[in-house]
Amino acid sequence: MAKHLITGGAGFIGSHLAEHLLQQGEHVSVIDNLSTGQFSNIAHLEKDGRFRCFIDDVHNDKLTEELIREADFIYHLAATVGVRMIIERPTETIINNIMGTEIVLRNACRYRKPLVITSTSEVYGKSQQPTFREDDDRIMGPTSKSRWGYAESKAIDEFLALAYFSEKHLPVTIVRLFNTVGPRQTGRYGMVVPTFVRQALLNEPISVFGDGTQSRCFGHVLDVVPNFVKLVRLPEAYGSVFNVGSQEEITMKSLAERIVKMTGSKSTIRLIPYAQAYPPGFEDMERRMPDLTNLRTVTGYTPKYSLEQILNDVIGDIRKQLESKDPFVLSNS
Ligand SMILES: NC(=O)c1ccc[n+]([C@@H]2O[C@H](COP(=O)([O-])OP(=O)(O)OC[C@H]3O[C@@H](n4cnc5c(N)ncnc54)[C@H](O)[C@@H]3O)[C@@H](O)[C@H]2O)c1
Repeated sequence: MAKHLITGGAGFIGSHLAEHLLQQGEHVSVIDNLSTGQFSNIAHLEKDGRFRCFIDDVHNDKLTEELIREADFIYHLAATVGVRMIIERPTETIINNIMGTEIVLRNACRYRKPLVITSTSEVYGKSQQPTFREDDDRIMGPTSKSRWGYAESKAIDEFLALAYFSEKHLPVTIVRLFNTVGPRQTGRYGMVVPTFVRQALLNEPISVFGDGTQSRCFGHVLDVVPNFVKLVRLPEAYGSVFNVGSQEEITMKSLAERIVKMTGSKSTIRLIPYAQAYPPGFEDMERRMPDLTNLRTVTGYTPKYSLEQILNDVIGDIRKQLESKDPFVLSNS
């Protein structure tokens, strides 16, 4: 059985990836500094003898090197994630994302280990294409708007990974994730689905930013993670970028309405102008839908989960958290 290393493995997506690999009989090591991840995401895996967890930072170059040397395959997910974090903590986000990736790529290159790097649909910026293809031009806002710093830090990660591939033949593949949701995702950092579901279950007003006509496509984490495992073993995928996500589109206002209906909530929907939600000059994208042709061609990808099923899973998960008497779980949801 192969040995897999997941950086950021105590996070939302990383913990599902760890579970998926263990279910396949593989060995999994995780390194996570618990900055946004939670030990409770992986606590249930600790009893499995094929699972190891290191609470540490990928910036610990020596440990990261050792873990990479021991592994057969690597998935780099450790990052400071999302638009709210880049606005609140821009320095930390940019340094963490770029330097962390540099350390992982350099060590993977030293030991010639195949790896997947997680990027984001944010790298398409303000582009208004009906669907985004991996080789489309990117349209970014000015550097004075810190919001774009997250996208740019991930774009630098992509440039660096592709440079390692072309110059040093590192077997690296980039996945550009569109909105990924599912159980264990926290609303603490502004992720929209868990935030709306939590507000609905508590019968609080649901805060929709802007006029609510902006739309997104949400992919189930259980549809997303198997792609990483297929791609890391596919030599024809090395040196390429793949969109990963769903094409089922919904506006934020409709999403809020649907969640209210599904939860039987008494919540009202409150439109909050961007100027109130974010610092002045905040820019958002109207739509964001992936073109999935490349991924379908190499992995045969077809999402299994509809938006209805995704929302059902998230509602079930957050309902359980709210019913839990554990104050730690409650304060972290
Ligand atoms: N969830 C999404 O919709 C989405 C969309 C696009 C891209 N992504 C990317 O997917 C990856 C995983 O995101 P997620 O949604 O699971 O977020 P997450 O915050 O749950 O996971 C990130 C994990 O990395 C850890 N981490 C951060 N910096 C670290 C460091 N220096 N050393 C060790 N651990 C560190 C955090 O503690 C956390 O557990 C990220 O790279 C993110 O940019 C996610």
